[in-house]
Amino acid sequence: MDDEPLNFSELAVYAGEEHVNAYNSITTPIIQTSTFIFRNSKDIDDYVSGLNKRYEYGRYGNPTQTAAEKKLAALEGAEDALLFSSGMNAITTTFLALLRSGDHVVTTDDAYKKTLEFCKTVLPQFGVETSVVSVHDYDAMEAALRPNTRIFFSESPTNPYLNVMDLERLAQMVKGKDIILISDSTFATPYNQRPLELGVNLVIHSCTKYLGGHNDLLAGVVLGPASFIDKIREFHKTMGGVIGPFTSYMLIRGLKTFALRMQRFNENGQKIAEYLERNPHIRRVYYPGLPCHKYYDLARRTMRGFGAVVTFEVDADYAGTRAFLDRLKRLRIGPSFGGVESLITHPASISYYNCTREERESLGIKDNLIRFSAGVEEPESIIKDLEQALAGVK
Ligand SMILES: Cc1ncc(COP(=O)(O)O)c(C=O)c1O
Repeated sequence: MDDEPLNFSELAVYAGEEHVNAYNSITTPIIQTSTFIFRNSKDIDDYVSGLNKRYEYGRYGNPTQTAAEKKLAALEGAEDALLFSSGMNAITTTFLALLRSGDHVVTTDDAYKKTLEFCKTVLPQFGVETSVVSVHDYDAMEAALRPNTRIFFSESPTNPYLNVMDLERLAQMVKGKDIILISDSTFATPYNQRPLELGVNLVIHSCTKYLGGHNDLLAGVVLGPASFIDKIREFHKTMGGVIGPFTSYMLIRGLKTFALRMQRFNENGQKIAEYLERNPHIRRVYYPGLPCHKYYDLARRTMRGFGAVVTFEVDADYAGTRAFLDRLKRLRIGPSFGGVESLITHPASISYYNCTREERESLGIKDNLIRFSAGVEEPESIIKDLEQALAGVK
């Protein structure tokens, strides 16, 4: 028994943490400090010579952060992990650590708005060009590769249409080239997909979503081989977007129930997607667990479940879709997902409020598009609220 590897739920509960902590505490302590003191000059010398591995200063690492990183690495099956203050900080720091002026990036188009904004507007300021390619067009992705392409970035499933990428095919595409394949796996989570096993080099998550899981923290993580993570960690020490010990603890705490929550999220997502598909006031549902989804077969082949997020089009115009939101009694309106509270968002009036309709449509954001994230409530109660709000659609 002792030498049996821990299963996924056991990793979520135990990995990364000491068996017994300070004062025999069962939980990992929150080491709430900005600095770590030295007893004397020999203590300093032992540290700088590498004889004594310890902590020095909060921006360079903290034991509570390390415990959270080890737990995440164990769940993802990664050699190492590095935490950041947010998912965006994980993405931007990783890119800037790995790129040099003159490099080229390929990214797919159905991606988180701020990631695309970073690639299109920030990277060019540092001499890095990005090609944005349709998420559906593998020939165009291959054609976009150049001798100076250093990063191929994709989300899977994507935000908000939940398109699923063929990560094995992408890995084949970049094989033998000096290209780092990075997948933002926020929507998949290590419970539902194992990108590193499919040939991806680095995995990024916004831990703000499923991993934290309680809509109460912001964090991001990059996971993969230590050789990459070491490089990013050195750069991160200069960039400084650290997570902090309290948030690290919140993440550890949230992860204890990760496997349980994911089971419920997968069940709720599937049931709600199936319900919405039958509702006459819905024009279209996007959920990889529905046979009508473009990537149903690929999702079934490469994923264990399809998560809590269901995207759909209401049979209404802009005003009618907003009126549907206003009729909801229990469900909360808000722009996030993956937490215990169900959340519903209207991208056209929240995330894309400063775009014209034409700009939104060119980005695929329709007036009647809704992104729904099921919480851990009973699916029947969620459906009841959706049902009464949809019944008012004219
Ligand atoms: C797929 C994806 N990646 C990254 C991010 C950014 O994460 P954060 O909000 O933690 O910075 C988000 C945020 O919604 C996201 O949806």
